[in-house]
Amino acid sequence: MEKRLRWLIRTALNTRSLRKNLPDGYTRLRSLIGFLQILSTGILKNLAILGGWGIGKTSLLRTFKHRAEHRNCAATIIELGESTDSFIALFETITRSLAKDATPMSGAAVKIREFLEGLSLSVNYGPVGISYSDKKKVNPDMFRFKEDLISISGTLDVPYLIMLDNAEQLLAIKGAIFELRNIFQMIQSADGIRCMLILSGKETLFADMRSASEPAVRFFWGIDLGPFSREETYEAITKPLTGTGIVFEDACMDRIFELTRGHPYFVQVFAYNLFSSKTGVRITVADLEQNFSRILAYLGKRLFESIYSRTSQNERKILQAFVLSHKDLLSNTEIAELSGVKSVNIYLKNLSGSPAPLLSRVERGKYSLFHPLFAEYLKNIRS
Ligand SMILES: Nc1ncnc2c1ncn2[C@@H]1O[C@H](COP(=O)(O)OP(=O)(O)OP(=O)(O)O)[C@@H](O)[C@H]1O
Ligand SMILES: [Mg+2]
Repeated sequence: MEKRLRWLIRTALNTRSLRKNLPDGYTRLRSLIGFLQILSTGILKNLAILGGWGIGKTSLLRTFKHRAEHRNCAATIIELGESTDSFIALFETITRSLAKDATPMSGAAVKIREFLEGLSLSVNYGPVGISYSDKKKVNPDMFRFKEDLISISGTLDVPYLIMLDNAEQLLAIKGAIFELRNIFQMIQSADGIRCMLILSGKETLFADMRSASEPAVRFFWGIDLGPFSREETYEAITKPLTGTGIVFEDACMDRIFELTRGHPYFVQVFAYNLFSSKTGVRITVADLEQNFSRILAYLGKRLFESIYSRTSQNERKILQAFVLSHKDLLSNTEIAELSGVKSVNIYLKNLSGSPAPLLSRVERGKYSLFHPLFAEYLKNIRS
């Protein structure tokens, strides 16, 4: 790897050197902001943000978009879903969304504004009059797509970021990842074009992409998003309260961190519930203890019930084995004994597989429930 690029990436990942410039930022944003600096130097790196459900991928993209715009970059987030099911739909959505989101960057320039508005209204990469269902069968006009991305860059004269959230959806369009890589590689090598492609998806995205296109995997710099650290948990709880006069006692935030293990979705559920049932300006550990079963019931209704209802009879017996044993970690032999389920390994494979595993395979043949709060839920439905 080129020496300068290595240095820049090290700088990007060196959170300490950036911290003083980001008094109001989330810790996990810092490495991304570093990549914005790389972008402005013209050395480009495309990113893939990888992590499990609820770990904060979409939130991170949103905050990053906001920050990028403050640094005079245009940015757009495209939430891929079932409607982005063809090449044509994908490319049209990208151009339309970028043109729309880049409009505020044009300032007062009427000409630029008109160009972007015109583009977002007229974008069409398929044959004229094509039906929605036929879009899947026809190849898009790649040339026009590239030209549009190049003219947006030329007209705006600022770097831009295209972020594709729920990127596993790309795998549903045959060849999409490979083509995107080709297109971006080509426009990024053109003079004066500074743009970056950012994907975000499940932790298995790279493995799934690899079977579709190995070169595409190498095109992206992977960033694994894990749970919040203690400091990030504090930040996530306190930042939204700025200016409200409400404070969480440190001991209460420590307890939230322990109970949630820093999982952003759970942290947010605890903070939200404690905030909405507050009786004074200070939220304490006693408040947490008092509200714990209510919060667990909230999680049950919003999350656990629906995932549990999708499990089979035998899978439930396996999950209950953890409650029976009072142990966090069980071997497959112990699970087989406690649950009485035959051919337990098949079920264990299913339960620990994606997209939302209920068991974590901690080491070979050893499993735990995916989260201790889920264990609490299972205890409650048993009793
Ligand atoms: N930095 C943060 N500060 C505070 N709360 C956060 C932060 N990041 C995520 N959250 C909260 O965690 C929850 C899950 O976040 P988000 O939806 O971004 O996760 P995700 O990885 O995109 O999930 P999914 O895989 O389901 O799409 C949200 O309720 C969000 O408000
Ligand atoms: Mg998301």
